[in-house]
Amino acid sequence: MSRKVTKAIFPVAGLGTRFLPATKSIPKEIMTLVDRPLIQYAIDEARAAGIKEFIFVTSRGKGALEDYFDHAHELESNLKKANKTELLDILRSTNMDSGAIAYIRQHKALGLGHAVWCARRLVGNEPFAVILTDDVIMGEPPCLQQMIEAYQETGGSMVATMEVPSEKTKAYGVLDIAEDMGAIVRARGMVEKPKENPPSNLAVIGRYILAPSVMQNLNKLKQGSGGEIQLTDAIADEIEEGRDVFGLRFRGERFDCGSKAGFLQATVAFGLARDDLKHEFGEYLEDIMSMRKAAE
Ligand code: G1P
Repeated sequence: MSRKVTKAIFPVAGLGTRFLPATKSIPKEIMTLVDRPLIQYAIDEARAAGIKEFIFVTSRGKGALEDYFDHAHELESNLKKANKTELLDILRSTNMDSGAIAYIRQHKALGLGHAVWCARRLVGNEPFAVILTDDVIMGEPPCLQQMIEAYQETGGSMVATMEVPSEKTKAYGVLDIAEDMGAIVRARGMVEKPKENPPSNLAVIGRYILAPSVMQNLNKLKQGSGGEIQLTDAIADEIEEGRDVFGLRFRGERFDCGSKAGFLQATVAFGLARDDLKHEFGEYLEDIMSMRKAAE
């Protein structure tokens, strides 16, 4: 089996109710971190990892997300006429090759596993990546690239993982560890959102490289945690059937942009990482922190 990974699935069908009213009329993936929509961070990370085909699993109300990837001809020619080359470069960096994007509709919200399964015909019999756009990761090299490099060594399937406090494990897929090799762990099992007795505190973060057999496991459409079809269960089935599943403790900082606090933290971190903003923004943050301290 080839270890070349060129296809990535982006499950983007979620309603984003945690961000109402913003998500009343815009998809949550279009929400902006500094000046780029969340989806652009995910796309850039996928491209850096060598992904060539981008499969979006969408739902009703995601039109703005599809439009985002269209070439903005009028805007491009206006910027060109005005000689705004820097803006033109930024705009062009969002362009995608013709035929590189596919949209598949998830007709019912039956869970992450079901969303991934909706893309089965586009993926075919190849290993594929899955990126959850809520998980924004600041890392160098970008997280998916780290995973692709590790996967070249290990084969099998691989999930991104990081340690979380024990009381937070119930919000994640959690790895049961057979062998801890440092950056890479070999899993003996995986549990989605364990209510009690988590097998470890290594949580699955939203980056996956999966063997095509995971799609076959999803064919069973088995209901799991919360009555949903879980991707975690289909990956756990791999282990049951004797195939390898690894976790990679990636290098980088992960932000949960599916939560308001996480989104704000990401805004601060990505703002401070920008040369054009770090000075003014950093001073402002220092000022408000010292005002807060003085008021205490
Ligand atoms: C999903 C997965 C879970 C994973 C998490 C990472 O859960 O089902 O296994 O740990 O993403 O963000 P969700 O946060 O969509 O409920």
